[in-house]
Amino acid sequence: MAIIFDTERQTFKLDTPSSSYVFKVSPKGYLLHLYYGASVPDTDLDYLRLNLHSASFSANVASPEEKGMTLDTTWLEYPTNGISDFRVSALSIRGATGSSATDIRYKSHKIYAGKPGLPGLPATYVNSDDEADTLELTCVDELTGAQVVILYTVFTKLDVITRSVRVTNTSDKSFRIERIHSTAVDFNDSDFELLHLQGRWAKERTLVKRHLEFGLQGIHSKRGSSSHNNNPFVALARDGYTEESGEVYGFSLVYSSNFAAEIEVDCMRSTRVLLGINPEDFGWLLEPGETFTAPEVAMVYSNNGVGGMSRTYHKLYRHNLCRGEWKTKKRPILVNNWEGTYFNFDDDKLVAIAKDAADLGIEMFVMDDGWFGVRNNDDCSLGDWYVNESKLKGGLKSLVDRVNALGLKFGIWFEPEMISPNSDLYRAHPDWCLHVNGRERSIGRRQYVLDMSRADVRDNIFNQMYKILSSANIEYVKWDFNRNLTEVGSDLLPPERQSEVAHRYMLGVYELLERLLTAFPKLLLEGCSGGGGRFDPGMLYYSPQIWTSDDTDAMERLEIQYGTSIVYPPSTMSAHVSASPNHQTGRSSSFKTRGDVAMAGAFGYELDLTKLTDDERALVRQQVEAYHKYYNVIQDGDYYRLINPTEDKANITSAAAWESVSQDKNEILLTYVVMRTQVAISRYIRLRGLDPAKIYTDTASGRKYSGALLMNAGLNLTGGWKDGESRVWHFIAE
Ligand code: GLA
Repeated sequence: MAIIFDTERQTFKLDTPSSSYVFKVSPKGYLLHLYYGASVPDTDLDYLRLNLHSASFSANVASPEEKGMTLDTTWLEYPTNGISDFRVSALSIRGATGSSATDIRYKSHKIYAGKPGLPGLPATYVNSDDEADTLELTCVDELTGAQVVILYTVFTKLDVITRSVRVTNTSDKSFRIERIHSTAVDFNDSDFELLHLQGRWAKERTLVKRHLEFGLQGIHSKRGSSSHNNNPFVALARDGYTEESGEVYGFSLVYSSNFAAEIEVDCMRSTRVLLGINPEDFGWLLEPGETFTAPEVAMVYSNNGVGGMSRTYHKLYRHNLCRGEWKTKKRPILVNNWEGTYFNFDDDKLVAIAKDAADLGIEMFVMDDGWFGVRNNDDCSLGDWYVNESKLKGGLKSLVDRVNALGLKFGIWFEPEMISPNSDLYRAHPDWCLHVNGRERSIGRRQYVLDMSRADVRDNIFNQMYKILSSANIEYVKWDFNRNLTEVGSDLLPPERQSEVAHRYMLGVYELLERLLTAFPKLLLEGCSGGGGRFDPGMLYYSPQIWTSDDTDAMERLEIQYGTSIVYPPSTMSAHVSASPNHQTGRSSSFKTRGDVAMAGAFGYELDLTKLTDDERALVRQQVEAYHKYYNVIQDGDYYRLINPTEDKANITSAAAWESVSQDKNEILLTYVVMRTQVAISRYIRLRGLDPAKIYTDTASGRKYSGALLMNAGLNLTGGWKDGESRVWHFIAE
């Protein structure tokens, strides 16, 4: 078992391959955190506690057995509000007394093999019970009758511990959950950098690093989605860490809506990390007998730096989060018509692109926005999911059949959660969008957001989608979401439940996604939100790939993909070759570089193929061949970031480089892209993760190197590199 309970010491010890996580139950039932870090064999860790019970102004726990312990300076496993721990709390419940003081004490526990699912929520899962063990710790707040079950799942082959919490009202009076974080970890020092992924539309997920300071710090989203701006992920990296060395603790929330990471460094320099649903604008009324389940956090421990943490997340999310038909199946190379035509297309135009796609070896055609209602720009028709037959003459089936006849699969775009004021749906149901009666409805991208907390709204959208998807051989859906939630109110809920709407909205979206996948289990779903505005583990549970950004410029994508790779595997990052000059930045880059950059993700094209020159067509053929040749090493290999494009300090040039290493270390793919060059560059690049004893052959030149040489001396990249030039090396071990 990866989880043991030392009865004598009342201590729980959770062990992953290279980490230990230890906490104990105090005589009065408090859960005291003791340790999270590199593996230790001991369970006697009590001596680590601060024992500063005499600190003046601290309130002591009134119990002789606790020797005057104060929660004020104690590391706690799941800290609650208002009972002598004055740091930011994980749980706050306002009971019938009107007080939000919350006091949970240990009652019982069970340990078992495997991992349970979370009702209505996405979560990591095990493929067989020997992949993980689970601890369910039951605590009770006697006054409110809140039964709090803290769930820990410990993965046996990955350095992952997941946590979640469920609260059941066992009393005969309702209470209100006002804060409920999914995880809480207290560290005994604050010698860490806080890492997180910050961004905005078309510039998602830039890695930000800042040293922890006294007081509160953190990130959050209150946009009704995980957002372009902050990703539901933070890490603490112990001082002295690098990309490939040192201790890094990752915290990643499997959720797609409002979240908060609250990190507090207190007066003793202890650090508390909380991650879960954003407490702002949140409250949940729990009636007797009801249960609330908080989403899951996946915690990763790495003693191989940020890179080690990323590789663990990549494995976890590829094998234990993504699901279904397309989980690890080779994804079709697609061409999407958005940047090729925008709204300006008809069936013949699309078929012309599909014809060229077939000729070039592309495997799927995706019809983007503009095929439904009367939509010729973004000011109408969301919610009217029926085919615009003046654009698609002969209807959808005829178009899909024509594309299929060329040997291509067919995919389609939807934005199921939205409604245009100018739509038949809105005219029929003006109360179906999120709104607060008496308040003006904010508009974003000329659309409102449907109230997905309502079952009748979801049924309507499901039925419309079902009709379209069963009308023709449609094998892929791009599920878009193009604005944030405002005036988050629902007509069907009473005033005291309006603070539940954002979470109920998300649960509704998850339910709709599940329903769609149950009806069409072979469907490949691609998530999207104005590019990568909802690129999070919650969505990956349903859509194994997500459109990474609306910025398709190769140079910008280097930075966006770098940041995204901190948590998410290449197979999840949709990346397309688009036209040059780029539509977003106006920058020109070579067709080859655009292909090399897109190849680091779920590969495809996003341009009008009928406009390509013969040279470009030849390059598409080469790229398609490369995709098939390198697919396994890119998607199943270990990913190493070699040069960070956002902070390349080489002063001779700025560049990006990354590398994929097959699990048996016999195949290596290295990509190097020069972003801004200077003349007379000298540069060496040292590879990572190879077997030092193996001899690797560069398959292009035939030159042989030992793994040790490639890792210690590196490749010599001295030479006349041009702006935007890229190169790929492929090595095979003998
Ligand atoms: C969003 C998506 C784009 C495209 C448009 C269509 O911006 O990110 O890829 O689908 O919507 O309106």
